[in-house]
Amino acid sequence: MEDAQLYVSANALQRRDALVVLTEFLPQMAWQEEGENILDIGCGSGDVTRNLLMPLLPRVEQVTGVDISQEMVNFASKTFQHNTLAFRQLDIEKTVQPRQTFPDGFSKVFSFYCLHWVKDQPRCLNNIYQLLQPGGEALLVFLAHNPLFSMYQNMSEKIEWNKYMQVFNTITLHTIFTTLTTTTTATNPFSSSPIPSDAIKAVNPFLKRIPTESQDAFLMDCLNELAKLKTQQEDGKTVARYNLMIAHLLRPE
Ligand SMILES: C[S@@+](CC[C@H](N)C(=O)[O-])C[C@H]1O[C@@H](n2cnc3c(N)ncnc32)[C@H](O)[C@@H]1O
Repeated sequence: MEDAQLYVSANALQRRDALVVLTEFLPQMAWQEEGENILDIGCGSGDVTRNLLMPLLPRVEQVTGVDISQEMVNFASKTFQHNTLAFRQLDIEKTVQPRQTFPDGFSKVFSFYCLHWVKDQPRCLNNIYQLLQPGGEALLVFLAHNPLFSMYQNMSEKIEWNKYMQVFNTITLHTIFTTLTTTTTATNPFSSSPIPSDAIKAVNPFLKRIPTESQDAFLMDCLNELAKLKTQQEDGKTVARYNLMIAHLLRPE
């Protein structure tokens, strides 16, 4: 998932969902009179941070986007320069003592379409907790279920691919937060057939582990596996339903 240019051209679905969730949840958050210090975890190519999140924030002092991928960070820094925006490399799953990197912490933490990739969920949520100032709020949006998960599961059971693939779990919320809202929404991402191969390529966490000469075959097999999964037909179109987890959390004072 490191081709920033490809991702930015194939993330219409993620942008749509970020906009829907932000429109609903930003008015529910408590906003301070003075500027806020905002973090976006798993910012990817940076366009959601810069073009959706920033314009919708009521008051901003500084926005920081972090991503595990240095390539994504480089692309975002180059493409979305702004005097109140910065991008940094950070692995939210592995980082220990994140306040050493960000000593002031953040009054709000956002994350869109990232945390379903995280395996060490307690560490990740503990890091988010540490990064939040007391009284700070987090809005975490990630996939609870997606047909792609079933596709990856099936692919990982194939002898030719299983050495490159690891199965991941869906996140469970840690108990340190006060949970303001958790909700899952059923949505309809792929309303046309065939499912775009660029979308599969742009968000494929396994691709970089596959030898270059086998990547085309791997992607083709992904699409074949996806086509085998049961889909609901609506107006003759292929529909793949998925569920988003939206967690609005508060770090108590
Ligand atoms: C599907 S992209 C979402 C990008 C953006 N938030 C959006 O909504 O378009 C997921 C991003 O999460 C990043 N990511 C995955 N695991 C991460 C981790 N442990 N720490 C930080 N970022 C991570 C990936 O590198 C990728 O850029």
